[in-house]
Amino acid sequence: MKRTALICAAAFLILSMVGLTVSAQDGATLYVHKFCTTCHGQNGISMAPNYPNLARQNERYLFNQVKDIIAKKRTNKLTILMTEHPVVVGINDEEIAAIAAHMNRIKK
Ligand code: HEC
Repeated sequence: MKRTALICAAAFLILSMVGLTVSAQDGATLYVHKFCTTCHGQNGISMAPNYPNLARQNERYLFNQVKDIIAKKRTNKLTILMTEHPVVVGINDEEIAAIAAHMNRIKK
């Protein structure tokens, strides 16, 4: 019984470590798979003057902006590009956090 509990605890620890590693790496992959790159540029430097650069921006700020834009709390003519994008609106909190962490850590 005690042994089973120990094995379970060890398995849980390993799984959470794997989970953490995966989500840290996932930010870069998600950034591409969720189409952010098409507007915000491959390295977070956008190609259009009216599209914001995301590279090296504060992580918490990025997270909050995506949440507000998707929830339509932050609106203007251009946020519609995100709110009308079927993949972008389907993004969840974990994915936003992973992308925000990745964008914040982009090197020059
Ligand atoms: C079709 C183009 C398009 C796509 C796709 C897109 N964005 Fe945007 N995004 C924009 C535009 C344009 C703005 C600026 C809106 C404004 O002027 O307020 C913006 C704003 C933002 C902001 C706020 C930046 C700031 O400085 O306040 C963040 C963060 C952001 N996008 C993240 C993302 C992420 C993450 C994805 C992918 C899940 C994504 N965007 C996908 C066009 C896009």
